[in-house]
Amino acid sequence: MTKILVTGANGQLGKSFKLVAKQFINFKFFFVDLPEVDLRVKEQLYPFFEANFIDFVINCAAFTEVDQAEDEVELTLETNLNIVSNLCDLSQKYQFKIVQLSSDYVFDGNASKPYETNEPVNPIGVYGKSKAAAEQVILNAQIDAWIVRTSWLFSPFGKNFVKTIFELLHNKNEINVVADQSGAPTYALNLAQFILLAISQKPNFEGIEIYHFTNTGATTWFEFACAIKNELNTDCVINPIRTEDSPSKAKRPKYSVLSCEKTINEFNLNPNSWELALKDCLINLKN
Ligand SMILES: NC(=O)c1ccc[n+]([C@@H]2O[C@H](COP(=O)([O-])OP(=O)(O)OC[C@H]3O[C@@H](n4cnc5c(N)ncnc54)[C@H](OP(=O)(O)O)[C@@H]3O)[C@@H](O)[C@H]2O)c1
Repeated sequence: MTKILVTGANGQLGKSFKLVAKQFINFKFFFVDLPEVDLRVKEQLYPFFEANFIDFVINCAAFTEVDQAEDEVELTLETNLNIVSNLCDLSQKYQFKIVQLSSDYVFDGNASKPYETNEPVNPIGVYGKSKAAAEQVILNAQIDAWIVRTSWLFSPFGKNFVKTIFELLHNKNEINVVADQSGAPTYALNLAQFILLAISQKPNFEGIEIYHFTNTGATTWFEFACAIKNELNTDCVINPIRTEDSPSKAKRPKYSVLSCEKTINEFNLNPNSWELALKDCLINLKN
């Protein structure tokens, strides 16, 4: 039986893995997170890997506070790099494959068509730099690994745009949402399903590959908020605003749509549109 360790298990994506794991009965799952295991400290991991023969580590653990990262440069880089370099060292010792989660923030957002997996990275903020550097650690390691980039994650879990807007639409008469940044929303449950399906299709892959996975279609935060409103019974008014009128510590990519063509072709996928995925997420949130 294939044994899979999911790190960052209490985060948004980690919890999504816990939910969809039940659909993959041929896999045995292990889940770890802080405070039990700090992945920055390699020694904490030896007993686990000695006791369990792990085939795959899906690394969802990361420092993900994009604005806070601008003030906490060292902590962000240290966390996101150490976790990955520790996992790479352990992968060489214990022979497991890694699926490393990465982000649209590795790109600068100046494109006008979806980013391909082989385009050069050029992050514009500390968080994006830490994710790009983590990718580089993987690319330099002599291991078997997939780097899976995704964007605009939403789900019933953790902190995300859909949950924030859902709350605001219920509690405010009027809200402002940025209308000049485009991206592809991704349902964390669909991402988790894709990764597990990919592992079941290619359990013996070798070398290092980069994949992109998002739901299909692209939108702006404003249109995304309007789509959430359309699914709810609320009179709250949503005003479109410009990025300049919504100051934040970290610069956001203006356009961060990822091309998923390679992923769709290699794994013969038919991903949901973000609109369909949103409906499913809202059903879960309302219950
Ligand atoms: N959210 C998005 O929109 C998005 C978009 C693109 C890519 N991604 C990537 O997708 C992955 C999962 O994101 P997410 O939204 O699920 O993030 P999340 O909710 O912030 O979850 C990350 C988890 O990692 C844990 N963690 C942090 N430092 C750790 C350490 N040293 N040792 C062990 N665990 C540690 C966190 O614990 P604490 O909470 O206790 O710190 C948290 O439970 C990340 O790699 C992220 O960069 C996310």
